[in-house]
Amino acid sequence: MEEPATSRAVLREELEVARERDPATEGVSDATIAAGWPGVQAVLAHRLAHALMEAGVPFLPFLVSWIARAVTGVEIHPGAKIGRRFFVDHGSGVVIGETAELGDDVTIYQGVTLGGTGFETGKRHPTVEDNVTIGSGAKLLGPVRVGHGAKIGANAVVIEDVPPNATVVGNPGHTVRVEGRRPEGPDADWIHLPDPIQEAVQSLSERIAELEREVAELSGRPPRDAPLESPPQRKGPSPAGG
Ligand SMILES: CC(C)(COP(=O)(O)OP(=O)(O)OC[C@H]1O[C@@H](n2cnc3c(N)ncnc32)[C@H](O)[C@@H]1OP(=O)(O)O)[C@@H](O)C(=O)NCCC(=O)NCCS
Repeated sequence: MEEPATSRAVLREELEVARERDPATEGVSDATIAAGWPGVQAVLAHRLAHALMEAGVPFLPFLVSWIARAVTGVEIHPGAKIGRRFFVDHGSGVVIGETAELGDDVTIYQGVTLGGTGFETGKRHPTVEDNVTIGSGAKLLGPVRVGHGAKIGANAVVIEDVPPNATVVGNPGHTVRVEGRRPEGPDADWIHLPDPIQEAVQSLSERIAELEREVAELSGRPPRDAPLESPPQRKGPSPAGG
C-alpha cells in the first residue's frame, strides 16, 4: 500500500482506522472524531513531531509532543518510530518511549506503557511488530520484541519476547495461547529449560550438607550454621502457560 502523500491523506487514513477499530465511531462525523478522539489527535500530533525531529528541527518536536500530552494524556516521544494505521483507543495514560518501534496496524488501549526498565541508554524500549493489540494497562518494559499478530492482555506486564500470534496475560506475562491454541506441555516452555549445571551444583551441595551432618555427629561438634545454598531457580508461572 502506498504511503499517504499529503497531511490530508494522513488525516483520512487515521480517521478510517478509528472507524474500523472503534465501534463508538458509528454514526459519528469525521469532524467529531477529529475533535473528540484523543487517541487520533495524539497519533496525528506524533506524526508531526516525528517528521520535525527527522528533519532535524530543534525544540519544536518536543513542544508538539508536550502539547499533545497535555491535551490527550498520551505521551509519545518524538523519536519513537510508529508504522501506519496506528490506533490508540481512549488515549489517557499512554506512554511510548524514545526507542520504541511499532509496525503497521498496531492497536493500544488506555494506560499502556512501552517503557524502559531503568536508566539504560541506547535501544531500551519495546519493538512491536505488525497487527499487535495491547490491552489497557499493559506494561511492556525493556527492549523486548512482540511478534506480529500477538495479543497482550489488559494489565499484563511483559518483560520477555513474545512469539508471533501468541496471547500473553498476567504479571509476569505468560503465554496462554499460540495461534489460538493452548501451548502444550513442557515442550512449549522456552524459558524453563532444564539447567544441567544448576542440577549438578544442587546435587553436590546436598551431598556436602549430608557429609557435614555426618562429620558433626562423629566429631560431636555442632554442624555449620550456614548450610551451602543451591543456586537460585527461576520462579513464576511458565511463559508457555504450562
Ligand atoms: C488477552 C485478550 C486479548 C485475550 O483475548 P482472547 O484471545 O479472546 O483469549 P481468551 O479470552 O480466550 O483468554 C485466554 C485465557 O487468558 C485469560 N485472560 C484473558 N485476558 C486476561 C487478562 N487480561 N488477564 C489475565 N488473564 C486473562 C482467560 O481467562 C483465558 O484463560 P484460560 O486459558 O484459563 O481459559 C483479552 O482478554 C484482553 O485482555 N483484551 C484487552 C482488551 C482491553 O484492554 N479493552 C479495553 C477496552 S476499554
